[in-house]
Amino acid sequence: MKFITTHFHSLDKVITDAQVFFIRANGTEAIIPEELHLLDTSLNKSIHTVIQTEQWNAKERTHIVIHTHGSIPTRLIVLIGLGDSEKADAGIYLKVGARLVKLLKKLRVTNCTIAPFSGIPLSLEHSIQDIAFGMLLGDYEFVKYKKESKEKHQIESVSFLTIQPLDLHSNFERMEIFSQAVFYARDIVNEPPSNMTPSHVADKAISIADSSSHMTAKIFSKNEIEELEMGGLLAIARGSSEEPKFIHLTYNGGGDKVITLVGKGVTFDSGGLSLKPSKAMETMKCDMAGAALVLGVFSVLSKLKPNIIVHGLIPTTENMPGTHAIKPGDVVTSMNGKTIEILNTDAEGRIILADALSYAEKNIQSNQIIDVATLTGACVIALGEEIAGLFCNDAALKQSIQTSATSTHESLWELPLAQEYESMLSSHIADIKNIATVRYGGAILAALFLKAFVPKDTPWAHIDIAGPAFAEKDTDLSPYGGTGFGVRTILDFLLTED
Ligand code: BES
Ligand code: ZN
Ligand code: ZN
Repeated sequence: MKFITTHFHSLDKVITDAQVFFIRANGTEAIIPEELHLLDTSLNKSIHTVIQTEQWNAKERTHIVIHTHGSIPTRLIVLIGLGDSEKADAGIYLKVGARLVKLLKKLRVTNCTIAPFSGIPLSLEHSIQDIAFGMLLGDYEFVKYKKESKEKHQIESVSFLTIQPLDLHSNFERMEIFSQAVFYARDIVNEPPSNMTPSHVADKAISIADSSSHMTAKIFSKNEIEELEMGGLLAIARGSSEEPKFIHLTYNGGGDKVITLVGKGVTFDSGGLSLKPSKAMETMKCDMAGAALVLGVFSVLSKLKPNIIVHGLIPTTENMPGTHAIKPGDVVTSMNGKTIEILNTDAEGRIILADALSYAEKNIQSNQIIDVATLTGACVIALGEEIAGLFCNDAALKQSIQTSATSTHESLWELPLAQEYESMLSSHIADIKNIATVRYGGAILAALFLKAFVPKDTPWAHIDIAGPAFAEKDTDLSPYGGTGFGVRTILDFLLTED
């Protein structure tokens, strides 16, 4: 799908399969723009007639399609409702774009134009960008394991008609790259867990580094993880027949700024001996979505070329209840020497992330650390399936992450690193325990656990993506499965830190 902008003169001269118009509503009525009225005269008022007969009121994300039957060179006129502009949320164009691409494919449209519209509540530039981005994101499918895949219709070109000349070439190029990164992350979350084991995750990291410039990947095998004394990662891996890996990716784009990204890479979370019930286990191949985000981001860094240094750390393992599995009550020593009493083997993410944070402290002088993890069910209870939890010890870092999330329309909501809860993690026999006695405030407690391993005085953010990482039903922007949530925010963030 190729996006262009075209400075246009007269709509009835446009030759294309479909002309798309975005229509706002005024209370209960569709607001028909002047240029559409003009076009309608060449169409014998059929647009007007259809709107009247169907009593179409441009409600958000509804549409009507008018066949022109040769009255003008365009085959179809498609009207997409945006709803009341007053009530529109900023992400509407993204969602509308995602719906539009599916509709146009169904109508077997190959080329289309999108008529000029007044951007609500965003600038024209941002609105066009969002529609195009929505069209890209909404076009994703994971069909690798389907024997009979439907015949695919492709949209070749989408042209945004503008009244003033407007060059968005580089914006379109950037979105194309962003969407590749999102799809990369989705693809590896969607792989069945036995096909995306820690070794497979490591292979992905190697092939990313091999095919990119300014990038290296160091994979630590189980023996090397033992040498690093990552007692947490080793402990969680004990119940599985798959070896754990620790991945260290480095991108060097020049400049002085060093950002470390850490992604939870539990390729399947059965809960270990604290076994999850079967329903809760169904989607647990998604427990490496943080790692998938890091890999997705790294897969495009050489194309975006930010002038920064980015480290990507991925502790990756299965969490299984095999014969050698750790038992509730066991104590393990993490890489920085702190001992952890493991009372629930299902709270494994924080244990492996603790080692990754200790590794960062010992080996990397980071200006900022951001970890991304499908960490707690409690975060899903608190914020639902579309919003991730954001914990941060630094106001400036928090602000820039939030700005990137807002501009890419991903939702993050701040939760507190509540000092008053810290004592709930003190253990009778070790330095810290991995769960508290009470089950309330679980997302906060997990974040506080991580905080105990974050290098002193380093700005750090923890993003709990347990809710939005995996869609349990088809949505506008993502089908059932991995969503690639967070990739857009982190990429935007890295580009602004440049
Ligand atoms: N991987 C889960 C968290 C999760 C839940 C991710 C739902 C995606 C969707 C994590 O390892 C876990 O099991 N956490 C426990 C912690 C508890 C035992 C303190 C949880 O949230 O129930
Ligand atoms: Zn778990
Ligand atoms: Zn987990």
